Amino acid sequence: MAMHGRTYDLMIPGPVSVDADVMLEMASPVVAHYGTEWTRFYLETIETAKRIFQTQNDLFINVGSGHLGVESVICSMVEPGEKVIVVETGHFGHRISELAEAHDVHVHPVEVEWGKAVKPDQVEKAILRNSDAKVLALVHNETSTGLMNPIKEIAEVCRKHGVLLVVDGVSSIGGIDLRVDEWGVDVCIAASQKCLEAPPGLTLVSVSERAWKHMRARKTPIRGWYLNLLKWKDAAVEGKDVQPYYITMAVSNVIALRASMEKILQEGLQARFLRHKNVGHAFRQGVRDLGLQVLGADEEASGIVTVVLPPDGHTESEFISFLCDDYGIQVAGGLGKLAGKAIRVGHMGPGAKMTKIMPVLYGLKQWLISL
Ligand SMILES: Cc1ncc(COP(=O)(O)O)c(C=O)c1O
Repeated sequence: MAMHGRTYDLMIPGPVSVDADVMLEMASPVVAHYGTEWTRFYLETIETAKRIFQTQNDLFINVGSGHLGVESVICSMVEPGEKVIVVETGHFGHRISELAEAHDVHVHPVEVEWGKAVKPDQVEKAILRNSDAKVLALVHNETSTGLMNPIKEIAEVCRKHGVLLVVDGVSSIGGIDLRVDEWGVDVCIAASQKCLEAPPGLTLVSVSERAWKHMRARKTPIRGWYLNLLKWKDAAVEGKDVQPYYITMAVSNVIALRASMEKILQEGLQARFLRHKNVGHAFRQGVRDLGLQVLGADEEASGIVTVVLPPDGHTESEFISFLCDDYGIQVAGGLGKLAGKAIRVGHMGPGAKMTKIMPVLYGLKQWLISL
């Protein structure tokens, strides 16, 4: 039974509208989350995910949303009372700080004006000022601003100073180039419902050898049980033939995720990143052609989300309702400091197509005319 009569074409920054063939996989018979046949399928799915993360590191699929992944990483990597440097370029960067504080971790925030990416030298200064911090965390694509932090350069700075790098790639993995191994990202988190083009419900976490060593050297045990990455690692080793985790895996979601990731690899990672970039730039230009402003500089734009500033005297919600009612397309509003002041359009996965952004631009034009 459908939840309600009307569904919308999702042009929000996740979840994305999932292709019908992937959704159909959710209708496959439910299977047991253990046993040799399932385990083989599951481990192949992990290998598929590693290709998208561009890593040979360990990778886990966990039942939960993106924040579950981020929280499990923070509470496993940083001990209560220890310090973590968190780069905040928007709402999701700030969320990392919030959840770190919930684990009694001492946060040193690097606060960057919303609408800008962080510069590597800002990161270096923060590391030099906080020589007791062993971990630095930040978001790759800050989904609240549509701007992307320069992970390659930040990873170099972290390496130089022996700091472990945690990257929230929840909205970027699968849509923007993020070379976990080549760039030296120690821990990277993704979620199923964004550029991985699958239904919500799963988070994916890759962990480097350096990060394992760091976790094993903790003075205090990890407080979490479900969120304990060392337990996930041990379970993966002990259960490698029958059940490489210790919870009931969301088998239907994993089957769908596998199907969507196969499609991603068939398209080819580089072709896909270019598609997102081109569509993102076309959308930004299209908005400017209508006389409206987009947040941030083009060079820092992630290509997968664009923040459009509504005209003076008007709010985001007016346009969101107009587009839903008249066009059947859903876009999102601003978050945190940008709540009420920004229209967020997601052009990720199936939405990263000219045929998908053109109706949004047309709707925007008609809305402006109607004002
Ligand atoms: C960059 C980023 N991090 C974390 C999250 C949280 O993910 P979830 O809502 O799946 O917990 C989001 C969600 O939009 C996000 O964009």
